[in-house]
Amino acid sequence: MSDLANKRIVLGMTGGIACYKICELVRRMTERGATVDVVMTEAATHFITPVTMQALSGRPVFVDQWDPRVPNNMAHINLTRGADAILVAPASTDFMAKLAHGLADDLLATLCVARACPLLIVPAMNREMWANPATQRNAAQLRADGVTLLGPTEGDQACGEVGSGRMLEPHEILEDLIAYFQPKALAGKRVLVTAGPTSEPIDPVRVLTNVSSGKMGYAIARAAREAGAEVTLVSGPTALAAPRGVRRIDVTTAHDMLDAVMGRADSADIFIAVAAVADWRVKEVSASKLKKTDGGAPPVLEFVQNPDILGTVAALPRPPYCVGFAAETEDLARHAAEKRARKGVPLLVGNLAQEVLGRDDTTLVLYDDAGEHPLPRSSKLAAARQLVAEIARRVAA
Ligand code: CTP
Repeated sequence: MSDLANKRIVLGMTGGIACYKICELVRRMTERGATVDVVMTEAATHFITPVTMQALSGRPVFVDQWDPRVPNNMAHINLTRGADAILVAPASTDFMAKLAHGLADDLLATLCVARACPLLIVPAMNREMWANPATQRNAAQLRADGVTLLGPTEGDQACGEVGSGRMLEPHEILEDLIAYFQPKALAGKRVLVTAGPTSEPIDPVRVLTNVSSGKMGYAIARAAREAGAEVTLVSGPTALAAPRGVRRIDVTTAHDMLDAVMGRADSADIFIAVAAVADWRVKEVSASKLKKTDGGAPPVLEFVQNPDILGTVAALPRPPYCVGFAAETEDLARHAAEKRARKGVPLLVGNLAQEVLGRDDTTLVLYDDAGEHPLPRSSKLAAARQLVAEIARRVAA
């Protein structure tokens, strides 16, 4: 995936044991198409060598303000001009204090003061250092100055203590960095998404479910979050991790999902129903395990229909903007148009089940009052971003 294509990032490293994790981060950033210029403080070079960072970024690494390789002796200007962002990871206590006061006594600090691009910092320090009032003051000052802080988080620390101050993991920093560059078309909006299958019990050890992986719904939740929305994801059982910054509510049955959704639908601006909700549940769930007997007849299950969650939300007196999904095996356009009318939703997104189930890519077709709008085949995340942009455009109109 080339989420960071055409992005040039100045990656600043300051002294801290978390430096070892930045090797992985640089690999992932370059894999996604970013050009990464690593700048290290002298302290950072005690943890990781510039040679390592040069090998991983494939570009010269800068440490010294007076680097003789820079013909005009202005590395602090040259490096930030044309950069899309400076990302300082790890950002030490000392470096945050310097930044908050505008000090410029080494190359990285000078770059930050002389920058003409956004600055994101990823604090990493011992819990007492993070909790120190001076550090908290500096963090507040940096936020007020327009610096974006990613983390820190809580957990085990290299010093053996446990608490807040731990650096985000490389994949989390990457996800936040990618999100930072996405257009904020849904800023201030509340988005509710359902995803995954539901699982309907038969007896204490057996369930009725379907093969939905949840990938599309999770990608949409992530894309909506990247677009600046506050996102709640009501999810049936899946093997997926919640996207960063998304509140996930785990449910099992269609009824659980309905309850979780109805408790939140009134305050949502947009509802996107992506879940593959079981259409039926077993009428009488057996309290004990159904047993087979030699030569006995197999059990006969009687079903009742589950509530239609999307239809219920769309029928509210003041419904959020409702988006439905239809995975069909044939006759997509006809089924989608019929489903859109039956559920009473302004936008229905169709795809062919055999082309998308469990896969990482998809082809979506949008159906609304104006007709049929196919989106190009792409990864589920890219398709989710396009869909979110389309929803934002319609909601704004
Ligand atoms: N949906 C829902 N609650 C249900 C069933 C479906 O909210 N009980 C939502 C899905 O999340 C999706 C849309 O409705 O957004 C279409 O679901 P689908 O199961 O394909 O449609 P059905 O109405 O069940 O029609 P059919 O099973 O006949 O295809």
